[in-house]
Amino acid sequence: MTPSRPTRRAASSSAAVHARRLAAFALGAAFAVGAGSAPAACSETFPKPLAVAEDASAAPKPRPCPPSGVSKGPWALAPKADGVTLRWEACRAATDGAVRYRPEAGGPDATAAATESSFEITTDYGALDPTTPHDLPGTWFMREAKLSGLAPATCYAYALGADAALGGRFCTSRAAGDKLRFFAIGDTNPTLGPTAKLIERVVPERPDFTIHGGDIQYYDSTLETWAAWFPRMQRLLSVGAFLPAIGNHELEKPDEYSGYTLRFFGGAGFDGTDGYYRFSSAGIWFFTVNTERPMTPGGEQAQWLAAKLEDAAKQPGYRFSVVWVHRPFVTCGDTDDNLSAKDALEPYFTKHKVPLVLQAHMHGYERFTLPGRTYVTTAGGGGALGDVDKAKSRAYCTDRAASGRFFHGVMFDVDGATLRGRAIDETGTVRDEFTIAVP
Ligand SMILES: [Fe+2]
Repeated sequence: MTPSRPTRRAASSSAAVHARRLAAFALGAAFAVGAGSAPAACSETFPKPLAVAEDASAAPKPRPCPPSGVSKGPWALAPKADGVTLRWEACRAATDGAVRYRPEAGGPDATAAATESSFEITTDYGALDPTTPHDLPGTWFMREAKLSGLAPATCYAYALGADAALGGRFCTSRAAGDKLRFFAIGDTNPTLGPTAKLIERVVPERPDFTIHGGDIQYYDSTLETWAAWFPRMQRLLSVGAFLPAIGNHELEKPDEYSGYTLRFFGGAGFDGTDGYYRFSSAGIWFFTVNTERPMTPGGEQAQWLAAKLEDAAKQPGYRFSVVWVHRPFVTCGDTDDNLSAKDALEPYFTKHKVPLVLQAHMHGYERFTLPGRTYVTTAGGGGALGDVDKAKSRAYCTDRAASGRFFHGVMFDVDGATLRGRAIDETGTVRDEFTIAVP
């Protein structure tokens, strides 16, 4: 993050940047959030009328900034057995950086202080809908609190000193063998509408964390900005840590990856890089690699994954691993597959017990029961749905056990020797359910 001077030339409607609120969060209380709606469009095949989205207005307007100074978030990253990282964005310097937290089950409050880093954004990004808040230029202030000394296998509630109505929940890593619930989603484009409905359905199940398969936000839909994304996603961000993979839509604009994706979600794992990283809970290790970068055998990412899988397998209490990525290794839908990367990685997956691979990018749902492991495409997080059968002639498609063109996320429960998955749509209907035997 680069300390900087603001170079403001912004414009935009001012009413909506903070038009939502996590309703009624206070320590000991629960969460809620705003929703959104808009017409549909999405995916890589967008027409790109982005000249419309990039604001050329000459009339500078003041940047909206709520009384709390909190402009985005908060959210949680990098869960560990004894700590977590909390992050939020502030729209002015020197706001209250305190975080109060305590175990959900009760206990004394503790307080942590967030660091502040300034970050300069130079470009104005808007959307076709004039009511959509812009991502405005100027200096933004990232606040980050690294909580340590926490109890393992414990869920905490937290609230910001800047506004007690802003906060959420996170869980420290479970002990090996513990039950674990986590949620997977991909290709979220919440201004289109279904994402928020889906979130409403799954948040009451209170997963420990969410792994996101990438394509987090879609400037290319011409209807979305990060300022519009956060309010619609806040309820999911508030129920547990958020751990995204990198997708192609994280790179739509020249400065999006550094100015937004990494500013918000960099450092999500406890090692690796911002693009590929790992974390663990309940003796299960979760690995993501960046499929926007080469996945060649022997390449940087493949070497890292192989080495870290081997390292994880040596750790006390190791059970198995889950790998999640953006671009699919296998799909019968309307995107490429990547069999060469799959072939290169499969030996490591087999050697180090990877029964489940999650992938995204092909906007729909698929479940493959391939030799040695289950591959699930979960990319129905709200982006415009694709053709899940376009490449059904691929040889392995005879092993596709379930598929569908519907919005969804997948809730996973590990209990003893079973991992159960439920693909849940935005009406709450379970569209597919399966179990996998796990070590
Ligand atoms: Fe994608």
